[in-house]
Amino acid sequence: MGVEICVEGLTKSFGHQVIWQDVSLTLPAGEVSVMLGPSGTGKSVFLKTLVGLLKPERGSITIQGRDITKLREHDLYEVRKLFGVLFQDGALFGSMNLYDNIAFPLREHTRKSESEIRRIVLEKMDMVGLIGAEGKLPGEISGGMRKRAGLARALVLDPEIILFDEPDSGLDPVRVAYLNQLIVDLNAQIDATFLIVTHDIASARQVPDNIGLLFRRELVMFGPRAELLSSDEPVVRQFLNGRMQGPIGMAEEKDAAQVEQELAQIDDSARVQQLTPRLLPGPGITRPPRWQAIARREAELHQKEVAGA
Ligand SMILES: Nc1ncnc2c1ncn2[C@@H]1O[C@H](COP(=O)(O)OP(=O)(O)OP(=O)(O)O)[C@@H](O)[C@H]1O
Ligand SMILES: [Mg+2]
Repeated sequence: MGVEICVEGLTKSFGHQVIWQDVSLTLPAGEVSVMLGPSGTGKSVFLKTLVGLLKPERGSITIQGRDITKLREHDLYEVRKLFGVLFQDGALFGSMNLYDNIAFPLREHTRKSESEIRRIVLEKMDMVGLIGAEGKLPGEISGGMRKRAGLARALVLDPEIILFDEPDSGLDPVRVAYLNQLIVDLNAQIDATFLIVTHDIASARQVPDNIGLLFRRELVMFGPRAELLSSDEPVVRQFLNGRMQGPIGMAEEKDAAQVEQELAQIDDSARVQQLTPRLLPGPGITRPPRWQAIARREAELHQKEVAGA
C-alpha cells in the first residue's frame, strides 16, 4: 500500500534565485499525480527535494509521520528505500550493462541471493520490453531504451512511492501509450503513490488522479484531475490546452493587457476541455476499490460542468 506525502509551505532557492515558494500539497496514498509546468519552473528540483537530495529553505515534507527535511543522513537513507525514482537523464551507470544497472539497487539495499535478484531483474526487464538487451551498455542503446531501463531500475525494490521525471520524453507515441498503460496497471497492482512529471498533455489528461501545475515560482493549482481539466484558471487552461494565448509566454512573462486581449479572442464555443476518460487497467488487472471513490468524484464534477455549460 502506498504512503501519503504531505508537503507544507515548501520553498527552495539556489543563492538568490527562488525556484518556487510556499508549495503545499498532499499526494494521496496509492494515487497517481502528475506535475506540469513550463520548462525551468523547478519540477525536477521538486522531485529531488521530495527524495531528500536537495534541502528546502522552509517548509516540511511529511512521510509516515516524519518530516524528512529534518532527518539526518542515516535516517534519510532508510526513508529513501521507500522511493523508486527515474531521474530526467535516466542516470544509468555508463560502464555497467543493463542487467547490472537494474540489479544495482537490489545489491546495494538488500541481501537477496543472486538467483533471487535474477528473477526480479528479468521480471522488470520483461515488463518494460527489454528482454534480450541484458548485456548492452547504456551507450549502445537508444534514448527510449535507456529510459525504459531507468524505469525497470526504479521498480526493483517494490517502492511505496514512485517518482518519474519525464518518463515519456524521447519515446515514440506508441511507446508513450504503452508506458501510460504500464503506469496505470502498475498502480492498480502495487498500489504505490505516484508522482510523474511530464510535458505530454494527452498523458496528463488520461493517466492521473490528480494534477498540479507549477508556474512563476508558485504551485498554481493541485487537485483532482477533473477539477483541473474543467478549471477556468487562465494558466491552467492555457497549459492543459497547449495554447499560445494566455499568461504563459515564451520567455514566461507577458504583460497583463496582452494576456487579456488574447484571452478575449479565444473561441470557447466548442469547449475543448471535455473530460477525457481516465485510462483503465488492462484485462486481468483488478481495479482497487478506492477507484470507486475517484469515479464518483469525477462524475460529480462532470455533472457540475454540464450544468454550468
Ligand atoms: N543544483 C542546482 N544548482 C543551482 N541551480 C539549479 C540546480 N538545479 C536546478 N537549478 C535551477 O533551478 C531551475 C529549475 O530547474 P529544473 O531542472 O527543476 O526545471 P524543470 O521544471 O525540471 O525544467 P524542464 O521541464 O526543462 O526539465 C533552473 O533555473 C535551474 O537552473
Ligand atoms: Mg526537469
